[in-house]
Formats: sequence, structure tokens, C-alpha cells
Amino acid sequence: MSMSSASTGVPTALTNVHAQATLKDAFKNDFLIGAALNEAEITGQNINAVALVKAQFNTISPENVLKWEPVHPEPDRYDFAAADRYVEFGQKNGMFVVGHTVVWHNQTPEWVFQDGNGKDIDRDTLLRRMRDHIHTVIGRYKGRIKDWDVVNEALNEDGTLRQSRWMKIIGEDYIAKAFEFAHEADPEAELYYNDFALEEEPKRKGAVELIKKLKARGVPITAVGLQGHLKMDWPTLEQEDATIADFARLGVKVAITELDIDVVPATQENKTADINVNAQLVAGADTYSKGLPDDVQQALAKRYAGLFEVYLKHRDVIGRVTFWGVTDGDSWLNTQGRVNHPLLFDRDGQPKPAFTAVIRAAAK
Ligand code: XIL
Repeated sequence: MSMSSASTGVPTALTNVHAQATLKDAFKNDFLIGAALNEAEITGQNINAVALVKAQFNTISPENVLKWEPVHPEPDRYDFAAADRYVEFGQKNGMFVVGHTVVWHNQTPEWVFQDGNGKDIDRDTLLRRMRDHIHTVIGRYKGRIKDWDVVNEALNEDGTLRQSRWMKIIGEDYIAKAFEFAHEADPEAELYYNDFALEEEPKRKGAVELIKKLKARGVPITAVGLQGHLKMDWPTLEQEDATIADFARLGVKVAITELDIDVVPATQENKTADINVNAQLVAGADTYSKGLPDDVQQALAKRYAGLFEVYLKHRDVIGRVTFWGVTDGDSWLNTQGRVNHPLLFDRDGQPKPAFTAVIRAAAK
């Protein structure tokens, strides 16, 4: 499917002018601009996407290759083949390389929490496994991966701690321990707590309390990642603004770590970026399978411009803004028959009106 400038209503000459502009240049005095890379990009197989990444971005995140499952599939076996290529790609191209993620409830094998008989292990054994994993993975890339999402998605929507296997077996100090181990492994790395929907009041409050507690205990947490899996009508720009301000007030840095905007109307109310929930959502919602209508394309551009104006307002605390994918075709939001259009580049790698709008927001 081609989303030519003709079909989006933006004059071709204008699109071409802006195609030569780059995101990394436009925001060079404000924050880094990044994209999450998939395996086809890391290995260089997807030549077009790689060219876009080199031209447009100055920081990269690993969409999957550094998660526990691929990197540490069995108790005594690590597999760093893909992760090494990811880090080399970033270094070769002079990019700021991000690590994602060591402690999460998803994409973590069952064996981590069990003994040989399938029984849950005890607190000390799980802490030892967590420490070994963190030391091995973060230690391997010490000085090369500059920031790490240490703990991902520890909170429920009501702001209480999620009853994950980590929480149930270790107790709530698993979070503090993860940060301590990460700091031992690389004392120079920025260490993040990363989560989605922190724009919602109850969850945000929970995160603020959590970070205050950790800092009061001297836990080496330095930043908060707002994932930024957003919708067209959620959150409001006021919510986004207040959220960044609330975390900035705690003395931590803020990054937008996984930005995308889901344009396909959901069949049910859903603010979550929980990958298990999203997988079951809206099977067959093919609203925009033939392309994005012009009015929605323009609305998406406006939405992105508004968000970037908020990010720019907070440029003193925002270190980077990273998109969760390069082109619309790569996006994890294309699930179960949904053809989504959440990013700045279309399926042909062409800049969308949203790209132009973001570049313009920078020039203001
Ligand atoms: C997603 C990846 O994009 C998918 O390819 C994978 O199948 C599931 O995970 N929050 C996170 C990311 O922190 O790691 C998730 O990435 C998206 C939600």
C-alpha cells in the first residue's frame, strides 16, 4: 500500500523539502530522538529502514533482543548474538544505545521462578538469579549501553504494586534490589523505572510514591521512562504536561521511551499497553486497512505536534524521545488483523504529515 503525498493532501514539494529535514537535527538542542529496532533492522536485512534510522535518529532501543527470553533462554545459557549486533550497530553509527529491559513480568521464561520440579523457588534463590542475570547482561555492555530500563511495568492501574512473580517470591524490595544490582554492574549507567499510562492519576501517584521511597532509601534510580503508547484522544496534553512536571519535581530525569499513537479505534475502552491485553483486543478491526483517510492523517499530525510542544516545554528534564519502531509496517500495534499507522514514516518509509508537523514544532 502506498501512502503517497498525493493521497495525503500534502503538496509533494513540501513533503520533499521536509524529507530532507531530519528529526535528529531538528531537536539537536533539545533532546535525543530515537527508534526501537527489530531484528531485521539490527542485522541490516531491512536496508530501507536502516537507511532511515541512520539518517533520522541518534539513539536506538532494542525492541526485543535484550529481553530475558531471547538473551537468557535457559538457566546456564545466554545468547548474545542479536544483542551484540544491536550494540555494535549503535556504536558504529555513533548513536546513544539504550538497554531494555532486565526485570519485567513479560518475555521472561518460567524457569526463572521455578526449580527443576516446577516448584516456585525461594526469595534468596530468585534474588541470586536476578543478580546473576543483571550482572551478566548489564556488565557485558558496561560503558557501551548508556541507560537501562531496570524495572519495567511494576505498577497496577490503581497505583498498587503488580503481583508479579518477582513481587510474590521476593517481596516489594525486588525493585530496590534490581536497581542496586544494576548500579553494581555499571555505576555510570542511567537507571530507569519504565511504565505505561503514568499519565493516569492513580497510577502516576503510585509511581511518584515508589520513586520517593526508593530515593529516600538511597536506591540508585536516576530516571523515569514514560512509555508513551498513546491514543488519539488519550491522554490530554494537560495530563502529559502535568505528568512530566510531577516526575521532574522528584529530581529524576524523564524520557519518552516507546512513543506511538494507536489510530485504530478500539472496540473497548483501553488505556493499557499491557502486551497480553493488547493481543486479545479488537481482532479484525480493519478500519484503516486500506490506508489512513486524509482527515485522520491530518489529525494524527496535529496530535504529534501538540505532544512535541509539551516535550519541548520540558526539554530541560527530557533526555530523549524514542519511537517504538521506525515505519508503520514495523509497529507492534499491527496485531490480529489491525493495520495500524502509529509512527512518522509510512509503510514505504515515506515521511507522513505527522513527520512534517513534528519538524515544524521544533522550528517554532
Ligand atoms: C513489545 C514488542 O514491541 C513486541 O514485538 C513484543 O512481541 C512484545 O513487546 N511495553 C514494553 C515493550 O516495555 O517491551 C513492549 O514491546 C511494548 C509494551
